[in-house]
Amino acid sequence: MPPLRVNKIMKKSSLLVCATMWVASCAPPPVAIPLPDADSPGARIMKENCSQCHGAPQPSTHVSVEWPGVVDRMLDHRTRKGYPPLSANDRTTLLEYLHKHAREVTP
Ligand code: HEC
Repeated sequence: MPPLRVNKIMKKSSLLVCATMWVASCAPPPVAIPLPDADSPGARIMKENCSQCHGAPQPSTHVSVEWPGVVDRMLDHRTRKGYPPLSANDRTTLLEYLHKHAREVTP
C-alpha cells in the first residue's frame, strides 16, 4: 500500500474517533432540581430575586448560620447591578425559608 493511502485511512479513522468523542461529550443538560416547598412564599421570593445572575440556589448549599451573610452579599450584588432592594419583610421570609431547608450541620 503506498504511504498516501495509509495516510488517508489514518485521517478517516481519526476523524471517526473525534466524531465519536464529540457525540459522547454531548450529554443532556442537567435537569434543574426543583426548590423544596416550591410554592411557598420563600421559594417564590427566591425565584423572583435570586435567579437573574445564576440559577436560584438550593437552600441545602449552606448551613443555617451561613445564609444571612450569603443573602446580604447577594443583596449587595443586586444593588450594584441596579436591581431594586428586597423589602425587610421579603428578606425575613426568604431567610426563614433558607433556614428551614438549610443543610444540616454535621456533628
Ligand atoms: C445581581 C446578581 C445576583 C443576584 C440577583 C443574586 N446573586 Fe448570588 N451570586 C452572584 C455572584 C456574582 C456570585 C459569585 C460571587 C459571590 O459569591 O459573591 C453569586 C454566588 C452565589 C452563591 C454561591 C456562593 C456561596 O456563597 O455559596 C449563592 C449560594 C448565591 N449566590 C445565592 C443567592 C441568593 C440566595 C440570591 C437571592 C437573594 C442571589 N444569590 C441573587 C450574583 C447574584
